Amino acid sequence: MSKQVPLMTEAKSIHGQWSSRLIFILAATGSAVGLGNIWKFPYITGENGGGAFVLVYLLCIAVVGIPIMMSEVMLGRRGRQSPINTMTRLARAEGAHPAWSLIGWGGVLAGFFILSYYSVIAGWAIAYVFRAAGGVFSGIDAAGVKQVFGDLVEDPERLIAWHTLFMLMSMVVVARGVRAGLEKAVTWLMPALFVLLIVMVGYAMNTGSFAEGLKFLFEPDFDKLLYACEMVDGAQQCEISGAPILVALGHAFFTLSLGMGAIMVYGSYMPKQSSIAGSAILIALLDTLVALVAGMAIFPIVFANGLEPGAGPGLIFQTLPIAFGSMPGGQLFGTLFFVLLVFAAWSSAISLIEPAVAWLVENRGMTRVRAASWIGLITWLLGLGSIFSFNLWSGERYKLFGKSFFDLLDYLAANIMLPLGGLLIAIFAGWFMSRESSQHEFAMAQPFYSLWRGTIRFLTPLAVVMVFLNAVGVL
Ligand code: PFF
Repeated sequence: MSKQVPLMTEAKSIHGQWSSRLIFILAATGSAVGLGNIWKFPYITGENGGGAFVLVYLLCIAVVGIPIMMSEVMLGRRGRQSPINTMTRLARAEGAHPAWSLIGWGGVLAGFFILSYYSVIAGWAIAYVFRAAGGVFSGIDAAGVKQVFGDLVEDPERLIAWHTLFMLMSMVVVARGVRAGLEKAVTWLMPALFVLLIVMVGYAMNTGSFAEGLKFLFEPDFDKLLYACEMVDGAQQCEISGAPILVALGHAFFTLSLGMGAIMVYGSYMPKQSSIAGSAILIALLDTLVALVAGMAIFPIVFANGLEPGAGPGLIFQTLPIAFGSMPGGQLFGTLFFVLLVFAAWSSAISLIEPAVAWLVENRGMTRVRAASWIGLITWLLGLGSIFSFNLWSGERYKLFGKSFFDLLDYLAANIMLPLGGLLIAIFAGWFMSRESSQHEFAMAQPFYSLWRGTIRFLTPLAVVMVFLNAVGVL
């Protein structure tokens, strides 16, 4: 048994605690499973060529995601405060520089960025609930659904209305707090969503393009991953690019809610006796399963209808309705599906701002209601930029590095800020935290502790740095 470390073992969160380990797992899974799995994973897989991208993404989950998730939970539970204050407190306790609190600050900023566009996309899902319920999709074909989607995203006012509604929903839950707000939202929704995805896979199996969908998703073609091609004057031009690998890494962070303190703050509400390693592995497995099942539901529909896998952010909104439109009970299933998608987004959105809310309560003495209102207002305003990316600002002259405001924000937050935050978390947990402290907090048997420590000290940082260097063309 490791030596007792008195300072942190006494710490308690002022924000409350999850009532059990199961609730922690549900809440963290609620944070992890969201639009990232069902909306983003399929569309970036489509854009980056399929199987090889999926393989790299799975590798990133194993080598980078799981060890960092364990570290975030461990740091959070040890610090028992908002990520900013947790990092300050732990840095002090470990004799490290107070600047480590920058991990927390960077995370708050990333959370604002992500929530701002996350809420816009969740707004699309709300809009689709009503379209599905109203029978708009019955008997619809690929062209029809494209039209429905186009009509929605080209109308800024409608998008603002849905974005506002989703933001308000998120703020209400956050304002109610850990027990009353967050727990209730996650207990039964995730299993229901999963069941519905399985129903969709069942449908996809009967469309005739199931094999093609699976092949796209699981058969690695590394040329597609390593070469970025575009049509120039009617001829295809390809060049080696590290960008897709960075996208896979970024998505591993995004989908597991890592690198910005969301899982850290949830860890700070975790009961003392619970196993961190077991929980982290379970959450990562569940999250990955949902993403793969979503891919298995979507790509067969893409191929059966001659659609483009690289269609971009509209992919699921232009594929799934075709399935709902032609399956028995599709109106009901479609409605239910989009309702559950909204719930999945909801339980993720609340974790995106919890680090900032916890800090405002701790340091500014604000009530949760006030803190949530301020943060909601700021992210809502930022979200307008993403809304306009799909309509008023969709022209080339509004693009920077060929990316719209929405693309740029997503790229910056998911592919740069989260991996950078994760890298710093790995370095702090592996190199600056004493063996006694981390071993005590994990309370994990050998050789598992050493496996974590070896990975977080060497393999994880090396992998992240190599992907970065590769993406900027150094490797
Ligand atoms: N993991 C969420 C998803 O896959 O939809 C998104 C997310 C939530 C990212 C919370 C980051 C975060 F801190």
